[in-house]
Amino acid sequence: MTALFGDDLMSRPRRELAPGAVHVPGWLALEQQAWIAARFREWAAGPVPLRGASVRGHEMSVKTVCLGWHWQPYKYTREATDVNGRRVLPFPDWMLRVGRLAVAEAYRRETAEYTPDTALVNYYDDAARMGMHQDRDEVSLEPVVSLSIGESCVFRFGNAEGRGRPYADLVLESGDLFVFGGPSRLSFHGVTKILPGTAPEGCGVAEGRINITLRVTGLSDAEVNASPRERT
Ligand code: SIN
Ligand code: MN
Repeated sequence: MTALFGDDLMSRPRRELAPGAVHVPGWLALEQQAWIAARFREWAAGPVPLRGASVRGHEMSVKTVCLGWHWQPYKYTREATDVNGRRVLPFPDWMLRVGRLAVAEAYRRETAEYTPDTALVNYYDDAARMGMHQDRDEVSLEPVVSLSIGESCVFRFGNAEGRGRPYADLVLESGDLFVFGGPSRLSFHGVTKILPGTAPEGCGVAEGRINITLRVTGLSDAEVNASPRERT
């Protein structure tokens, strides 16, 4: 039986890596992780399937399905024009609540006025990686909220100047929350490896890792649909 206050949490304290970048280990309960993992299977069933986005002609090893707005290199659209042209599923209400609780938790506030409108849901098999990059296709600079379920990974969190040092490598485990906003919002980050066989019993994922990032695009349908000439 797993203890309610497991030793693992004592050796993995909450940590602010840089101003605005906060790691909260074990934020989601196992039951919540399993419930989200079940939703992931529904999202992956369509209308837009999981796919590895094509970046400069190379298919990403990480497979993604989006909610609310569809991300493709390097823009957001309502329809997955680089996959099958279908409109992505709406951004669920419960995720808005999870996002607000996450930001409040990370920044130790009572409540947060945070209104994410897109979720990028990533699936990593044991060989998948994500190179160092910035999340900068959003017009808004509101925080990014990241949730991990399944196998652990080594997450590299760097600086806003470039892909190189200084950076910190930390292990994100199933149930962990990571929020980056404020001065850390445009910091480069990536996933250097997945740690096979580390998914905890009961998290709803037997193999691989699910990562969900919630973001505020700052986009409106009117702006996106306007011809380039009309855009300000
Ligand atoms: C991302 O940077 O979009 C994903 C990060 C992660 O998988 O933890
Ligand atoms: Mn990212």
